[in-house]
Amino acid sequence: MKAKKDSIVSLFQPKSVAIVGASSQPGKIGFSITRNIIQGGFKGKIYPINPKGGAILGVNCYPSISDVKDEIDVATICVPAKFAFDAVKECADKGVKHVQIITSGFSEVGEVELEHKIVEYANSKGTRVLGPNIFGVYSASGNYNSTFSATDILRGNVAILTQSGALGIAMIGKTAVENMGLSAIVSLGNKADIDEADCLDFVMRDQETKVILMYIEGVKDGERFIEAVREATKLKPIVVLKSGRSKRGAMAAASHTGSLAGSDEIFDAIARQTGLLRAESLQEAFNWCKFLAYSPRPKGKNTVIVTNGGGIGVMATDACEKYGVELYDDQLVLKEVFGPATPDFGSTKNPVDITGGAKAADYDLALTAPTRSEDMHATLALYCETATFDAENLAPMIRDTYGKHLASGKPVAYAIVGGKVVEDAVVQLRKMNVPVFPEVYEAVSCMGALYKYTNMLVERDDSVDDAQIDIATINKIIDGALADGRTFLLANEGQAVMKASGVMIPGAGIGKSIDECVRFAEQIGYPVVMKVVSRDILHKSDAGGVALDILNKQEVMDAYEAIMKNCRAYKEDAVIDGIEVCEMVQKGVELIIGARRDPQLGPIVMCGLGGIYVEVMKDVAFRAASMNKKEARSMLSEIRSYPLLLGVRGEEQKDIDIVVDTIIKVATIIRKIPRITDIEINPVVVYEQGKGLKAVDVRIIISKS
Ligand code: COA
Repeated sequence: MKAKKDSIVSLFQPKSVAIVGASSQPGKIGFSITRNIIQGGFKGKIYPINPKGGAILGVNCYPSISDVKDEIDVATICVPAKFAFDAVKECADKGVKHVQIITSGFSEVGEVELEHKIVEYANSKGTRVLGPNIFGVYSASGNYNSTFSATDILRGNVAILTQSGALGIAMIGKTAVENMGLSAIVSLGNKADIDEADCLDFVMRDQETKVILMYIEGVKDGERFIEAVREATKLKPIVVLKSGRSKRGAMAAASHTGSLAGSDEIFDAIARQTGLLRAESLQEAFNWCKFLAYSPRPKGKNTVIVTNGGGIGVMATDACEKYGVELYDDQLVLKEVFGPATPDFGSTKNPVDITGGAKAADYDLALTAPTRSEDMHATLALYCETATFDAENLAPMIRDTYGKHLASGKPVAYAIVGGKVVEDAVVQLRKMNVPVFPEVYEAVSCMGALYKYTNMLVERDDSVDDAQIDIATINKIIDGALADGRTFLLANEGQAVMKASGVMIPGAGIGKSIDECVRFAEQIGYPVVMKVVSRDILHKSDAGGVALDILNKQEVMDAYEAIMKNCRAYKEDAVIDGIEVCEMVQKGVELIIGARRDPQLGPIVMCGLGGIYVEVMKDVAFRAASMNKKEARSMLSEIRSYPLLLGVRGEEQKDIDIVVDTIIKVATIIRKIPRITDIEINPVVVYEQGKGLKAVDVRIIISKS
C-alpha cells in the first residue's frame, strides 16, 4: 500500500518533523539538520530523536520515535546505514508519512537488497521514502530547511530537483552568488521510491515556484516521467541538465533502433517532445532559470537587436539563428521606430546600429523605442565598451531601460562587453536580477529559451493517435514463437504482424507445388521473386534457393524445379516446407522505421534513412511512442534525408502521409503489445504520393513477460 499521491505536499510543507539521529555535536549531519530546521523558521513541531536524550539548541530530544505521541509528517533519518532499516521500520510502524534517508551506503555502493527491503517495508505501511543518499529538502512555502547545507538559503522562485547531492549542495552555494532565490530544493539521491514525477506534482502547483530546474542522471520509469513532465511544462518552464551519456543501453540492444540510439539522444528527443528546456551547462541552466523567472513572455516573434558595434551585432545575429530567435525585418517600420535614435552614418536595419559614438542617452532613446512599438516583441541590447561612452551612466541606463521593458510587458536581454568597468556593471546589475551578460551568446541563448517555452505552449499538442491493430492476431503469433522456444519472430511472422497492423507489405505466399506457386505469382502480379522455405537452409542464395525477376508462368515453373534441384544437391536431407513467391519490390526511397522499449525511457519510436548504410549515415530521429501524427511528421522532417521524400531534381514528392501512418502503427504496436521489445522495418521502400510504401524486411524481438 503506497500513500496517496497528494500527500507529497506534506513532504515539502510538513506540520511535524522528527530527526532520527539528531545530535548535539556540531559538525555532525544530525546536528546540522536539526539546527537548520530550528533556525530556518519552521513553524511546526520538531522532534529530535536520540537514545541519549538531552536537548539540541533548546529543543528536547526523545529517546525513540515511538515515544512521540504526535503524528509525524516527515522523519529525517541520519543514523549509519546498518541502523537504517530498524529506524525506518519504527517510523513506518508509527505511521510516519515520509522518511527522508540522508544516510549513504545503499544501492549506490551495490547494497541494493537493503534499499529494497527498506522501501518495501515502508511502503507496506503507507510510508513513502525519499532517498537514500540525499542532503534533504528545503521549501520556502513550508519555512522548512531540512538540509545539512546552508542555514540561510536565499528565498525566491526557482525549484531545484536534483539527483546528485554534491552538485545540489554546490548549486545552493551558486544560487547565493548568482542571487537566484529558491522556492524549493529536493535531493532525490537513489530514487528508491520518490522520484522526479512525485516532486513535480508539488512544485508545479507551488505558488512560490515560477521555474523548475532538474538535474538528472537517469530516469527509472520513463512513461511516468514523461507524463509528469508533460503536465508540469504546461504550467511552468522546466530547465533540465542531464548527464550520464551511457552507451550501455545501446550495447545491450539487439537491433538498429537500439544501437543507433545512444540513450542520451533519445532523452534529447523526448525533452523536446515534452517541452523540457535542456541546458548544456550549469551556467546556462542558471541563466535560463533566472531569465525565465523574471521575464515577461513575448507576445510575438519579432526581436530587434540594438548595438553600438557591427561586430557584436553580427555575432548576435548568428546566435539568434542558433537559438531560434527571429529577427524583425520590416525596414520601413524599423526606420520609423529607430530613425530618431540613429545617426545618419548608423543603420536602422536589424541589428540597429546606433554606432560607437552613442552615449547613455542615445541608448536610452533607442531602447525605449521598441517598448512603444506594437510591431516589436523582444529586444537584445548590446554594448561594446568605447572611449567616448559616459561609463558612469551605463548601469543606470540599463536599469531604466530594463524597467521600461518590464512595464511594457516585453522581454529584453543585455550583453555588454569590455574591461573592468563593464564587468563590474555586470556583477552589480545581476545582483539586482537585471538580465545582463558578459557574452552575446549567453544573452541570446536566454532569449532563445524563453521563445522555445513560449512557442511550445502555443504549438504543443499532447494528443495520442492510436492505429487500428489486430492485437489478438499479433499475440497469437507471439505465443507461437515463444512455444517454439524463440525470442524473435521469423520473417513471415514479422510480415504477419505488419499485416495485422495494416502496414503495407509486399504480396507473398508459400506454395507447396508448382501449381500453387503459379497461382500465387498470378495473384501478386509479375515480376516476382521465389525463395526456398526451409529451416535447414539458412543461406538461401548459397544453396541456389533464390530466383529473382521472374516474369511469367513458364519462368515460375522453371524456377520451382531449379530451386528444388539445387537445394536437394546442397543438402540432401533438408526438409523443404515450400517455395515462397513474393512481389519483386520496385525501387523507391529506402527508410527505416523502428520502435523499442527503452529500459529507462519506455516505448520509443524512430525513423530515418534506411537501407544498408543505416549505421554509417546515422540519419535518424526519435520520439516517445505516445504521440500523434503531427509529431510523427515533425520527427520525419528532422532527418537530414527528408528532402529525398519531398523529391529532388524534379522528382515527385513521395508518399509522406503513408510514412506518417506507418510510424503511428509501429508506435501503437510497441505501446499496446508489451511482449514486443524491438521492431525494425528496414528497408521501408517509399513510392510517389498516392502510391504507398512496402515494408520489406521486418525484424521483431519478443520477450516472455
Ligand atoms: N535512533 C536515534 N539516534 C541514533 C540511533 C537511533 N536508532 N542510532 C544512533 N543514533 C545517534 C547516535 O548516537 C548519534 O548521536 P550522538 O552524536 O549524540 O552520539 C547520531 O545518531 C548519529 O550517529 P553516528 O553513529 O554518530 O553517525 P554519524 O553522524 O557519524 O553518521 C550519517 C551518520 C548518516 C551521517 C552517515 O552514516 C552517512 O551516511 N554519511 C553520509 C551522508 C551523505 O553524504 N549523504 C548524501 C548527501 S548528498
